Amino acid sequence: MPPGSAVDLSPEELRRYAHEVSDWIADFIAGVESYPVLPDLKPGELSRGLSLAGPEHGDSMDEILADFREIIVPGCTQWNHPGFHAYFSNTGSGPGILAEALTAALNVNGMVWRTGPAVTEVELRACDWLRQWLALPEDFVGHIEDTASVSTLSALAAARHRGTEGRVRSEGLGALPPLRVYCSEEAHSSVQRAVVLLGMGLDHCRTIEVDRDFRMNPEALEEAIREDRRRGRLPIAVVATAGTTSTTSVDPIPAIADLCEREGLWLHVDAAYGGPMAIVPEYRWVLEGADRADSLVVNPHKWLFVPMDCSVLFCRHMNILREALSLVPPYLMTPEDDVARNLMDYGPALGRRFRGLKLWFVLRWYGLERLQNLLRKHVALAATFADWIDDAEDWERVAPTPMSTVLFRHRPAGLKDESVLREHNEGILTRVNAAGSSFTSHTEVRRGDRTIYALRMAVGNARTELRHLESFWKTLRESVC
Ligand SMILES: Cc1ncc(COP(=O)(O)O)c(C=O)c1O
Repeated sequence: MPPGSAVDLSPEELRRYAHEVSDWIADFIAGVESYPVLPDLKPGELSRGLSLAGPEHGDSMDEILADFREIIVPGCTQWNHPGFHAYFSNTGSGPGILAEALTAALNVNGMVWRTGPAVTEVELRACDWLRQWLALPEDFVGHIEDTASVSTLSALAAARHRGTEGRVRSEGLGALPPLRVYCSEEAHSSVQRAVVLLGMGLDHCRTIEVDRDFRMNPEALEEAIREDRRRGRLPIAVVATAGTTSTTSVDPIPAIADLCEREGLWLHVDAAYGGPMAIVPEYRWVLEGADRADSLVVNPHKWLFVPMDCSVLFCRHMNILREALSLVPPYLMTPEDDVARNLMDYGPALGRRFRGLKLWFVLRWYGLERLQNLLRKHVALAATFADWIDDAEDWERVAPTPMSTVLFRHRPAGLKDESVLREHNEGILTRVNAAGSSFTSHTEVRRGDRTIYALRMAVGNARTELRHLESFWKTLRESVC
């Protein structure tokens, strides 16, 4: 039966369903371990349970919630499960969940200060708390984009603007020599994607070789820049990574910053995953040298317990970011333009939801000390797991473990052929993930001329305990055949 009102749920209905939904959320989080982390579904299977056409007269909230419970939830990969160890494990924490509900209720669009004074000012303040905790200089101004991909896109748009003295904005790329952006072979694909989106061409994102520990080689970078200048190309930016996606390596940012200063290049640091570690004094080394960057991205939705999506872009040249990206038609001009920050000016999107609220809720509720302790615990859990691998016969670690992610594989004595080892470990991965209690992923790492297939276990969920890793380790060993 459709709801009584044609306008919206009545206040009483809203209250009743809000109670029902909040009960469901609390039960879900408490019982999340009863779900398989990875649903046993084939592509298209879930869609068969969804009506082919939208309802003519509207469905009742009871029907919608029943389908949510019976079709949607079992069709989700459970990222909030403490046995989720794939990619970079994350957490939709309670304070973040509450903030998301309130954000939807407020439904504010903070495109300019006037359309969302609280959106603007809470976002800027929460980002500044994070800046202080990361020990970044005061001239880094943070704002929120949805993902690191968009943060890096915006940062490289600013780099392109500065590197071409604003000419790209007016004339386009045609009038200029090929622009060059540099990152390591281990950088996230979002860097290359940004270069493509900015029209510079994939071939002009030059990937620099890494050392044995998967860190960018600054001498090779210098040589590449020199060679490009000789060939008439225009280097504009270097992206260094603190916590690469595959192995969590940290590029030598101080040496790269020296080079960028000498060459007049924009330095963007991708600390999407690794950055939060720098809130812990003894892990501050991960951002060493980043205080000299032009911009830096950190994703609180990765390892800072904020629900998807929340990526903070810090930039110390907000004027350049604005000159590169802003375009203000008359209908968006406001009387406060000269005295307030309009956040629409610093990214590709006009509309801006109130993401700052969940960042503010999470930082406030946890506080610095509890966040530091959780990160310490995750690093310690990963180190424990790494020890188990190191001590076990026939298992080996395939990269250092500087953060909370362990790369490893099963390598039976005498088995040397990389393609056989790959197949063997792919089989283990399939069986572990089918078991349901955990979900992990894989990567490839280069060792000389060999490409090694590695399993990859990340700890980043606030509810992950030693017992989850013990269970994962047991399942792994039982999955060898
Ligand atoms: C180092 C690094 N940078 C950027 C990204 C892209 O993040 P997002 O999904 O927020 O765009 C990732 C994703 O895992 C990453 O690991």
